[in-house]
Amino acid sequence: MVNYKELGLVNSRELFKKAIEGQYAVPAFNFNNMEQLQAIVQACVEESSPVILQVSSGARKYANQTILRYLAQGAVEYAKELGKNIPIVLHLDHGDTFELCKSCIEYGFSSVMIDGSHHPYDKNVELTRQVVEYAHKYDVTVEGELGVLAGIEDDVVAEHHTYTQPEEVEDFVSKTGVDSLAISIGTSHGANKFKPEQCTRNADGVLVPPPLRFDILEAIEKKIPGFPIVLHGSSSVPQKQVAIINQYGGKLKDAIGIPEEQLRKAAQSAVCKINIDSDGRLAMTAAIREVFAAHPEWFDPRQYLGPARESLRELYKHKLVYVLGSAGKA
Ligand code: G3H
Ligand code: 13P
Ligand code: ZN
Repeated sequence: MVNYKELGLVNSRELFKKAIEGQYAVPAFNFNNMEQLQAIVQACVEESSPVILQVSSGARKYANQTILRYLAQGAVEYAKELGKNIPIVLHLDHGDTFELCKSCIEYGFSSVMIDGSHHPYDKNVELTRQVVEYAHKYDVTVEGELGVLAGIEDDVVAEHHTYTQPEEVEDFVSKTGVDSLAISIGTSHGANKFKPEQCTRNADGVLVPPPLRFDILEAIEKKIPGFPIVLHGSSSVPQKQVAIINQYGGKLKDAIGIPEEQLRKAAQSAVCKINIDSDGRLAMTAAIREVFAAHPEWFDPRQYLGPARESLRELYKHKLVYVLGSAGKA
């Protein structure tokens, strides 16, 4: 058993309190490898932002949980070396079983998500409660979820949103004891969040997706005032990156994300954690495809992973300053 405090990590409780008071959101960036982690730490140190490092169960399988734990420990030391001891949370993203959450806590995670949103309500409550009881013994914070996002989460595919029902949130939070709640108000996972026929076109011919359901968010905030809310599926799918990918041999069709101004508005509410993974994947892929096209003779991974890391760093800095508002809050 490794306690996250020995690794220099923090849980999310204090960060969320400050984020709600300060009307910004803490970034939750997914990572699977060293270059992604370096870019996240560099960006957050340069912009002086707290950060949540997220590991999905897929990432855990890909990279090995022991390696990920040491990478996260390395991130804490790297941030100090870069000159800023920013608060860093190591969080399990979309944990689906009690055993997985327990194992992550034993390996040094400071926060876990138990995603029981695909279960019937009572089962979700029971599973979430079980994780909270275990996690709180070690001062590890827990995120639960109510409502189902459209799109793909690990192996689960949902065709349509099931929006969070505001009537359920108070009961769920009090019965489970969770520290934060992920909700479904129209975001979704991946790079194809909307079909073109769901969108309208603005004066410049650009597709504009339907707005997030801020009415549901407001109703939830009324039921559980000041309680930390989490938004998953919050990549904006920058069209510049999509165009570069397609220009250099990629085949991304109808890639549409959540407009940044919608996320800025959400960050000023009780939404205090915003999850971003796909935008990082797009930035890396665009940079790598561009290098491969320009230098077909190159074969040293540092020659393409270096520019990919640089592009990621720029992307994350942009998010901190212009989308989440967490720059300067570390
Ligand atoms: O919500 C899902 C995250 O983007 C993680 O994706 O399961 O492919 O690692 P993954
Ligand atoms: P995106 O696919 O929109 O980046 O969402 C990531 C996420 O919610 C991770 O839990
Ligand atoms: Zn998610």
